[in-house]
Amino acid sequence: MAHIIAPSILAADFGRINEEVEMVNQSEAKWLHIDVMDGRFVPNISFGFPVLKAINAANSGFLDTHLMIEEPEKYIDQFADYGSDCITFHLEATRHAHRAIQQIKAKGKMAGIALNPHTSIHLLADIIAELDLVCLMSVNPGFGGQKFIEQTYSKIKALKMLIKQQNSKALIEIDGGVNLENAPLLLKAGADVLVAGSTVFKSENPIATISALNSIQINTITS
Ligand code: DX5
Ligand code: ZN
Repeated sequence: MAHIIAPSILAADFGRINEEVEMVNQSEAKWLHIDVMDGRFVPNISFGFPVLKAINAANSGFLDTHLMIEEPEKYIDQFADYGSDCITFHLEATRHAHRAIQQIKAKGKMAGIALNPHTSIHLLADIIAELDLVCLMSVNPGFGGQKFIEQTYSKIKALKMLIKQQNSKALIEIDGGVNLENAPLLLKAGADVLVAGSTVFKSENPIATISALNSIQINTITS
């Protein structure tokens, strides 16, 4: 499967949000990543339903919703109704991950679980077969523009093994600190989806940056 680039709208200029979303529409990015933060699960607040509604109206592609909120089960149905195509919540944020996955699937959406950097992939052993996506946080969630955590590479490899062992179709998504230098290595390690916020939106030519990330060929990577 060709990899997927998911620009994270958190790094966009919200004063010209329609233009920013339109840029993603015109680019080679297949997904748009939306970060929802509640100020409880993470020490930051991003945006809620009215903003999501505006972004969804402007977006013509696949909406990848990353919930960094406590008790995500309370809001899953609403996020589905607001146009999310994939809904990912944090394993650390709910006592009933299996139920939440079923709730997302009942809405006909792709279902994902995100793991904080300290959380072992082995905690997913009994649920991996049910998942469409696992999001490995490669920074501590809450803010864009942070430094990539190197331990992520070995986590990807271990997760890939777990996915294969259990015949799961889950995609591996990497979120945080992704840039043009580490992207080839992440793909080589087994990543399927790369989220990129600052790397895309703070670059001089976001369309060209997305294209550069999208056109990485893993069979030519040597290091
Ligand atoms: C962090 C968010 C990320 C963030 C990535 O909590 O989940 O999606 O926007 O931003 P960069 O790519 O700048 O690290
Ligand atoms: Zn995210």
